Amino acid sequence: MAEKKMWGGRFRQKTAALVEEYTQSVSYDRLMYRQDIAGSTAHARMLARQGIIAQEDAERIVSGLAQIREEIESGSFQWRTEMEDVHMNIESRLSELVGDAGKRLHTGRSRNDQVALDFRLYVSDAIREWQEQVRAVIAELVKQAAQHVDTLLPGCTHMQPAQPVSLGHHLLAFAWMLRRDYDRMADCDKRTRVCPLGAAALAGTTYPLDPASVAEELGMFGTFRNSMDAVSDRDFAMEAMFSGSLVMAHLSRLCEELIIWANPNFGYIYLPDAYATGSSIMPQKKNPDVAEIMRGKVGRVYGSLMTLLTTVKGLPMTYNRDLQEDKEPFMDTDKTVSSSLALMAGMLSELRFNTGRMAAVMRSGFLNATELADYLVGKGVPFREAHHITGAAVALAEDNGKALEDLSVDEFRSVSELIGDDVYAVLDYEAAVARRKTQGGTGPGSVRAQLEELGAWLGA
Ligand code: ARG
Repeated sequence: MAEKKMWGGRFRQKTAALVEEYTQSVSYDRLMYRQDIAGSTAHARMLARQGIIAQEDAERIVSGLAQIREEIESGSFQWRTEMEDVHMNIESRLSELVGDAGKRLHTGRSRNDQVALDFRLYVSDAIREWQEQVRAVIAELVKQAAQHVDTLLPGCTHMQPAQPVSLGHHLLAFAWMLRRDYDRMADCDKRTRVCPLGAAALAGTTYPLDPASVAEELGMFGTFRNSMDAVSDRDFAMEAMFSGSLVMAHLSRLCEELIIWANPNFGYIYLPDAYATGSSIMPQKKNPDVAEIMRGKVGRVYGSLMTLLTTVKGLPMTYNRDLQEDKEPFMDTDKTVSSSLALMAGMLSELRFNTGRMAAVMRSGFLNATELADYLVGKGVPFREAHHITGAAVALAEDNGKALEDLSVDEFRSVSELIGDDVYAVLDYEAAVARRKTQGGTGPGSVRAQLEELGAWLGA
């Protein structure tokens, strides 16, 4: 037999090569080496504090683990498939480096609680990074919005021009979405950063461990309450992937707007060259590929969430090897969410708006029709009737190739006697936006209040 497995005591036959390849996870779970080393370091120190291993052994373990970390980071570490996973790769190297002390590290611990700990730390570290990246995207939205409190564009429902809105208000709608994502991630982190170490294989352990001190050393919020739950729970990873799915949904909605706005028929934005690509055949083209790919990547993130939801479905207690399938979906999600957030922040920071074009489009779409209806209501006309009269005014203007505000008083009078000279001030687009000054409305006061609130949050 070439090499004894760590668990090989009772085995007489060598593992089949295909089995080794099929069951290994080291090709991807090696990304958790930092968390594995941090967890083992904390575990070793606790074992010594509790008098379970000698202080000198703990010291040898801790310095051996530090050396292994350097070997991994410098690229000299030999990762071995036959050692299955990151945990056994590191532990076997530790035994090479510090002998018997290394072999004492696994006292009172199983790979089941070890992997749960490593993965929780890994997911938590990722979530915290996403949060900072979400914050950066919000900061870019706030920066752009602050420049465009008074820039107007057609606000849409059903993708049809509806009412004029402030561009700042429109951009901040995305900031608030992302702000909820941030909070959702923080909430998810509370349940993720909980320490399962001490659950051992499934039943707890006979050694007098002190899980709370390990949790504290690792900056975790608390410890497990039930050893069986602790080794079988992957809720945190699914919650994190849901948070990732939702933030990707939000990014893809923003991408969709950018793609539409970049179409010359809209012409609302100039895509930064650094975030666009050209066509190999049509020289005039500038394609919003980054936004398209980001929109396209949403599918794999949703898919990863479904993967793990499906993996855990119907699993009996407690740890089952199926759970090894938790890591790749999360790691792919992490890579996608993280790179998408970084790109969105960069793209937004260089985005420029064609405000003249927005104003021109806004003036050609009867976006002040609601204002006319409200004006008639102010003169005592029931709203439904005012709506009808306004429709007639729109039809009249349209027939004459005019905007509502271009109709003469006489023309207005042909649809309602109640309309007078004072209608023009009401139809003014800026005035229409400014009238929407209740909380959360598109009026400049409300937009500035939002900017202030988000600014304070970003500063905190
Ligand atoms: N590589 C394994 C995983 O990711 C580690 C835990 C293995 N535990 C076991 N009892 N075989 O789930």
